[in-house]
Amino acid sequence: MKTEDGNTNTKKPASAKKDEVVIHAKGLKKGFGEKEVLKNITFDLKRSENMVVLGRSGSGKSVTIQCIVGMLKPDGGDLTVFGENVAGMNDNELKQLRIKIGFLFQSGALYDSMTVRENLEFPLTRVLKIKDQADIDQRVEDVLDGVGLMDAVDKLPSDLSGGMRKRVGLARTLIVKPEIMLYDEPTTGLDPITSREISELILNMQKKYKTSSIIITHDMECARITADRIVVMEDGEYIAEGSYKELQKSDNKIVKSFFSETI
Ligand SMILES: Nc1ncnc2c1ncn2[C@@H]1O[C@H](COP(=O)(O)OP(=O)(O)OP(=O)(O)O)[C@@H](O)[C@H]1O
Ligand SMILES: [Mg+2]
Repeated sequence: MKTEDGNTNTKKPASAKKDEVVIHAKGLKKGFGEKEVLKNITFDLKRSENMVVLGRSGSGKSVTIQCIVGMLKPDGGDLTVFGENVAGMNDNELKQLRIKIGFLFQSGALYDSMTVRENLEFPLTRVLKIKDQADIDQRVEDVLDGVGLMDAVDKLPSDLSGGMRKRVGLARTLIVKPEIMLYDEPTTGLDPITSREISELILNMQKKYKTSSIIITHDMECARITADRIVVMEDGEYIAEGSYKELQKSDNKIVKSFFSETI
């Protein structure tokens, strides 16, 4: 079956994919003890869309994505992923959900004692339970080619630069072909050139795999490159939404503060 842009897709008819909402959040709330972290989070993420979340440190960005993968349980509001209520899922359903969601952690942990190849094979053999070595080799090759790291296949993470390790982390997440990607500060700690490369890679991955993504970042260049839409989070709520160009013109003080750091 072919989708509108000519890609082969065997899962669903093209008509079902167009404008399909993959994550729906309405009035989401989450607190810890006395502290209300998420007060009222409402958004829809559409298929193949890159949504960037900007917000000050501690505003609840990581908590939001931890709710999406079911690591944290919301206190109130609606949260559905592929139409299913995450809070109502049992362990097995959560496991199935997490196969469809790639999560690039803020720390991007790799297994230090494993080579790049072994790090990439791990989710294929352990999560997808693939046994065919030719299939495994092909997937490793494809994804490493995608992130431009074919030469590093037999290296250990300790032999790689920070930017290369991020790429391997990204490759390891993408190798299972997740339908949704959650990037938690993918460029933090990288120099501007490497950051730009990672941002462009995120964009390429969206185009190549038609992934829907939430990208949490403080890096405005990353937001500019990757975002179809940006939401600005402040004190547990989204206070502004728009394209990079639209928000650049905003009069809101908080929105302005993100853009004033860049020229
Ligand atoms: N498991 C937890 N238990 C208690 N408090 C938590 C927990 N996780 C997060 N918090 C608190 O929730 C608030 C929001 O945290 P969160 O990690 O979502 O911030 P953030 O927006 O991702 O910030 P940063 O940009 O620094 O990563 C913080 O005050 C944090 O201390
Ligand atoms: Mg965070």
